[in-house]
Amino acid sequence: IDTDTSLVEDILAWKQRRNAVILAHNYELPEIQDVADVLGDSLALARAAAKTDADVIVFCGVHFMAETASILNPEKTVLLPDLEAGCSLADSIDAEQLRAWKAEHPGAVVVAYVNTTAEVKAESDYCCTSANAVQVVQSIPADREILFLPDMFLGSYVQRVTGRNNMHIWMGECHVHAGIHPQDVDTVVQQHPDAELLVHPECGCSTSSMYLLADGMLPTDRTHILSTGGMLDYANGSSAKEFIVATETGILHQMEKANPGKRFLAANPNAVCPFMKKITLQKVLDALRELKHVVRVSDEMRERAKTPIDRMISIG
Ligand code: 13P
Ligand code: SF4
Repeated sequence: IDTDTSLVEDILAWKQRRNAVILAHNYELPEIQDVADVLGDSLALARAAAKTDADVIVFCGVHFMAETASILNPEKTVLLPDLEAGCSLADSIDAEQLRAWKAEHPGAVVVAYVNTTAEVKAESDYCCTSANAVQVVQSIPADREILFLPDMFLGSYVQRVTGRNNMHIWMGECHVHAGIHPQDVDTVVQQHPDAELLVHPECGCSTSSMYLLADGMLPTDRTHILSTGGMLDYANGSSAKEFIVATETGILHQMEKANPGKRFLAANPNAVCPFMKKITLQKVLDALRELKHVVRVSDEMRERAKTPIDRMISIG
């Protein structure tokens, strides 16, 4: 019996004992994905957290995701197996910076990507994820000014799709996705001209891919800008045999597992999120055993952050 097998057995036993559910993001290590009860993108996981009847939620993802789950479930124990699982994008704006930005644009509607801290969400009107950002922005009356934060690539993608010109975009970025450069994508596309191209809108190349589309340099019907959940659905439903994947490489495990006859190529094999990889089987077991690390926000913060999260969950 190898270490992983016995760890998994222990995790399953403790999960039952705690009446716990394990939620995992698509970027987690393969062995974490395999032990999860629910695997998904940020929106799917927030929805799963909102409706679970477990007493304990073990969040295998990053801090803002566990915080969102706790805001939706204040009566449940939400655990993050490693408190160092943060997010460089969420760290690119704090509540004070947002208040100053709002003061420059009185009356503007604030749309915050879910990759933000609870204190930033508490200053926002809507949250969104990459799966519903376009629909969230479209739901806001056209004459209202929008402050979109914190991701500049997702923001400019949404602006392009919606044609909104009264939208201001915060200049934040995820260092992992910003590191997938247009040249990386171009190289792989040239090597595999028949492959479908799946691009996450947080990528440095997502806006550029749109320009390439406009210039007719990439086949429009084979380029898809999607959330991680959208990428998986697309790959599962498509009859194509080859896919170039421009996002964090953890998602390849699920794609390969569900589609043995298809080939998946990372646009940049170095696109690895160090925060997502903090979560290991041993830490999940320790979390269940010792009920650590509890993620919770104050009641006051929770009340203010809940409305934009509820709006996010109900749109799209
Ligand atoms: P989604 O899974 O919602 O597409 O988000 C990507 C991401 O970077 C989460 O941190
Ligand atoms: Fe944050 Fe980027 Fe990691 Fe997602 S991939 S958790 S946005 S640092």
